[in-house]
Amino acid sequence: MRISIIAALDERGGIGKDNRLPWHLSADLERFKTLTMGHHLIVGRKTCQSIGRPLPGRKGIVITRDPRFEAPGYTVAHSLEQALSLARQRGENEAFIAGGAAIYALALPLADRMYLTRVHTIAQADTFFPPFDPAAWKLLQNQRHPADEKNEFDFTVQVWERGAKLRRKA
Ligand SMILES: NC(=O)c1ccc[n+]([C@@H]2O[C@H](COP(=O)([O-])OP(=O)(O)OC[C@H]3O[C@@H](n4cnc5c(N)ncnc54)[C@H](OP(=O)(O)O)[C@@H]3O)[C@@H](O)[C@H]2O)c1
Repeated sequence: MRISIIAALDERGGIGKDNRLPWHLSADLERFKTLTMGHHLIVGRKTCQSIGRPLPGRKGIVITRDPRFEAPGYTVAHSLEQALSLARQRGENEAFIAGGAAIYALALPLADRMYLTRVHTIAQADTFFPPFDPAAWKLLQNQRHPADEKNEFDFTVQVWERGAKLRRKA
């Protein structure tokens, strides 16, 4: 099972503000939907609450330490490892780690692939993607999209794949 991170970050690595995305980029939301459709989507409890609903066609897993937490349409897990093994048991071929910062930090050492949207702005972010060493990754795709009426800022979509020898066994 491939472990993939999917995230949108600004030029300083900012990903969120007040438990929301700091921008509106229709084309990026569409790309997120296309990539994740039919797959397991693993999120932290705060991101789950920020999304506020199950995402149609995605198999949501929410990670929390709270033994009583429930979210309609999501399966609850209490660690990233538990979430990944649940997805694996269900026959998933690519599990998507969709944030937020706490869950990206847990997933970064395990991830095989990262779908990153680099938003060409500096947002007033309060939450950040963990630093990563680009030398440990190969850039497979790098495509710039201009801002327009539906996309607030220019952004570049990237696909990064980790070198096989550098991946820690999940
Ligand atoms: N730009 C993007 O692509 C993107 C994507 C996703 C989210 N975001 C943004 O990121 C922000 C949220 O990120 P965040 O870091 O504050 O929250 P988060 O990662 O969504 O959720 C954090 C919660 O996950 C649970 N958790 C974390 N580590 C755990 C562990 N080791 N074991 C069990 N549970 C664990 C805890 O839940 P409990 O407190 O319930 O125990 C913790 O409070 C929001 O602003 C959101 O909009 C941005």
